[in-house]
Amino acid sequence: MRIVPTQCALGAEIQGVDLAQDLIEDDVLKVRSAWLDHGVVFFRNQAITDKMLVRFSRRIGEPEPSPASERARVGSGPAAEFPEVWVISNVVENGEPIGSLGSGEAEWHTDVSYAARPPIASVLHALEIPLTGGDTHFANMYDALSDLPEELLEKIRGRQANHDLSYTSSGELRVGADPVVDVTRAPGAQHPIILRHPDTGRNALYLGRRTNGYICGLPLSESETLLDALWAACTRADLVYSHQWQVGDVVMWDNRCVIHRRDSFDPTARRIMHRTQINAREEPSRLSSC
Ligand code: SIN
Repeated sequence: MRIVPTQCALGAEIQGVDLAQDLIEDDVLKVRSAWLDHGVVFFRNQAITDKMLVRFSRRIGEPEPSPASERARVGSGPAAEFPEVWVISNVVENGEPIGSLGSGEAEWHTDVSYAARPPIASVLHALEIPLTGGDTHFANMYDALSDLPEELLEKIRGRQANHDLSYTSSGELRVGADPVVDVTRAPGAQHPIILRHPDTGRNALYLGRRTNGYICGLPLSESETLLDALWAACTRADLVYSHQWQVGDVVMWDNRCVIHRRDSFDPTARRIMHRTQINAREEPSRLSSC
């Protein structure tokens, strides 16, 4: 196995691994450690089934079923056999979307941060990709935090943010959710803005997504100004690795220290990705403030 870091602020390619095989424990430990070191790892040319995707995910932690609101929108698909597999796609079959997020841009976000115990990792497997567009960009939230000026740090130490559950990262209202009229009361979960990563012990900025974000306890205008400044700081180009997809790619990222966004692409092209979301088997995965 070879770990080849990107020349960016995060990310590494893992070469010499065939995810169609069940990995030996030593290889799992190496993959896990590369993922913790680099935030994002990717494997090219993987010919894997959903069963293999779930098996690999299970070696990292506990795969979780895709959110019920998304299954309600798109029907069961592969989830009928593998509830952990979430289809991300713009493809429509028999008048019904087969997956989530369509072909538009997906804003910067951390996966499922509107849950009390968000997944620690997400794994995305590319089955069909458009000729252009649809790149996924990842930003390093350790570096984002350590680069923050002291006057911003002072304002967020010990604070929590509310992570709204009402909308997807592509701006669609989730099934069963109501439009948000007051972000200070949006439904979702609250998490510390600075989290101590339970596996690496490093501190990272943890923001969820900008839409309907709110810093608990602040007047709304102050929260908005502060969030704008934090989001501008953590999405700087020098903090980003951009992944250009090839069919057969499998990309795994750490939701505790990485945010991601996706470019839009030609709506008439097909893009089909299968995703798992993984939690820790034990409680320490819960985010804790430093
Ligand atoms: C996601 O946000 O999980 C999907 C990213 C992508 O479609 O590339």
